[in-house]
Amino acid sequence: EMASKEGYPHFMLKEIHEQPFAIGSTLAGINEKEFDNVVNLLLNSRKILIVGAGTSYHAGLVGDYLLTTVLGLDTHAVISSEYKRYVNAVNDNDTVIAISQSGETIDTLVAVRALKERGAKVIAISNVIDSAIPRESNYVLYTRAGPEIGVAATKTFTTQLVIMTILTLRAGIIMGKLDANEYRSIMDSLNKLPGLLQNIITRTEGRVKALSEYMSRRQNAYYLGRGIGVPLSMEGALKLKEIAYIHAEAYPAGESKHGPIALVEEGYPVVFSILDDDNVDPLLGNVMEMKARDAYTIGFVPEKYIGKFKELLNAVLELPNVDYRIAPIIYIVPMQLLAYYTAVARGYDPDKPRNLAKTVTVE
Ligand code: G6P
Repeated sequence: EMASKEGYPHFMLKEIHEQPFAIGSTLAGINEKEFDNVVNLLLNSRKILIVGAGTSYHAGLVGDYLLTTVLGLDTHAVISSEYKRYVNAVNDNDTVIAISQSGETIDTLVAVRALKERGAKVIAISNVIDSAIPRESNYVLYTRAGPEIGVAATKTFTTQLVIMTILTLRAGIIMGKLDANEYRSIMDSLNKLPGLLQNIITRTEGRVKALSEYMSRRQNAYYLGRGIGVPLSMEGALKLKEIAYIHAEAYPAGESKHGPIALVEEGYPVVFSILDDDNVDPLLGNVMEMKARDAYTIGFVPEKYIGKFKELLNAVLELPNVDYRIAPIIYIVPMQLLAYYTAVARGYDPDKPRNLAKTVTVE
């Protein structure tokens, strides 16, 4: 292997720590003209489909949330291998955003080909220049995360989210859905992300490591959130599943009482993500429900709501107060660390999870 771990025990840990730099490079590499061409296409589309697999699908779900909920564009995130569900409903007024770190995932490539055949235009978001999916797309936006060696995606996810956020902001300003002040303030937060994330990693790594001791002794976990916290929870759960081999399931918190709560008993870990003001009170109710069943409640909570949640949480990760539209980029980092340290505590190699491949080239 040519790449070096640069003193880290695993590539995954190195890549988690590289995120401030990867985000900085992605922001620095943004070509406004390229983005404006893509934004133009999105604004003139009847419908937008976002296709992706694994972690890239989760980035697509966050993108779907931003385009649908923030901008009101008709957007659907689709698991690449399930694209057939939409084929009949797509025509040349539609646009596909294909998200793939490697640019080579066969499921995503097959979806791109089929939807292009229907007349849709395709925008690729990829970390590998000139890979198959970018080559077959009409437009390409590259993340500049640098090579990712760890099988479980980390820095490519956060940089994909950066691209989706900037697309949303630029479209929002043209559509008049965001005013200039809001635009500037979120852009400003994005530009400060590298420093902020560096700080969060330094501040939370010890606590996360301590929490992983508990997690490493469990067989199951729930990850619950609302709104943009749902895809965040899905990605957090996927990380734990992929490398620590713990059955982790994400659910919209409001849906947890329609089934999942039946499994909760003393000590069952339930990870709550608190992001947007609108969902704080309903989430508080969900935390109470789990606490009442003696769950081991873990909260990723912004500073301003710590007081509200503290008593109900067995473990709390304090995060900065940030705009909910960029919060997933921040919150996922301690979740990646939690999966990493849990895998290590269980004696597994996080860089080489069993049965998984970095890039899947069979359908
Ligand atoms: C594999 C990897 C995942 C990745 C997915 C999609 O399953 O193990 O980490 O998210 O493929 O990969 P892509 O290169 O298309 O983003």
